[in-house]
Amino acid sequence: MHRLLLAGSANPDLAARTAEALGAGLAVRELTRFPDGEIHVDIRESVRDADVYLLQATAPPIESNLLELLLLSDACRRGGAARVTGVIPYFGYARQDRRATGREAVGAKVLAQALSGAGIERIVTIDLHSAGLEGVFPSALEHLTALPTLAAALGPPKDALGVVVSPDAGAIKLAERWGRRLALPVALVHKTRLTGDAVATHGVAGDVRGRRPLVVDDMISTGGTLAAAIGALLEAGAEPEVTV
Ligand code: R5P
Repeated sequence: MHRLLLAGSANPDLAARTAEALGAGLAVRELTRFPDGEIHVDIRESVRDADVYLLQATAPPIESNLLELLLLSDACRRGGAARVTGVIPYFGYARQDRRATGREAVGAKVLAQALSGAGIERIVTIDLHSAGLEGVFPSALEHLTALPTLAAALGPPKDALGVVVSPDAGAIKLAERWGRRLALPVALVHKTRLTGDAVATHGVAGDVRGRRPLVVDDMISTGGTLAAAIGALLEAGAEPEVTV
């Protein structure tokens, strides 16, 4: 079974660099649109019996990136691929992992099922919004973490006066992992979300006074969470030298 790397259009630079790192080529495919906007995919080489790695983040513009991914997977399956693995570095809709009120959709589950329905048997992703999300995937899941790579990029802590900060309750597990890795204490900003682009903070739990915060989160959308968390940290006496 030969391996084939196939990419959607979400991140051409990542696709090119992944191919280069693997010493592989990218499978030739054509992505076009019908005049009414419908996406059309056409894989221009044989995928028969291939072990296909389909690289596509479901990042913005999410609807078209997702649809490309689904169509490319379906095209592989219909073309006789032996297996399709979706490599989805950023898994969109992951924030919709539960119902906060009574009548919301669990978007993450809808996406996971759609991917499986389109023939993706296995998913490789990085730092899902919550570990509990693993349960929504009907496909096999390889859940990777970028923490060691990011920690290496950060370098050794300058001194013991750092503090790892979770900007809301959702990121506390991630912050605890960082705290263990860097041997630093962990603090938590109490945040409530008011709307999609507005949040409010209600103080900080943990000792941040005189400490340099390292704020960790799995995503930035508007940046509102980070801005509010940093405001709350400064108010609580943290040093204004903040790393995100
Ligand atoms: C929340 O659950 C996430 O972990 C992020 O904190 C948040 O969604 C980021 O969005 P924004 O940058 O718009 O505040």
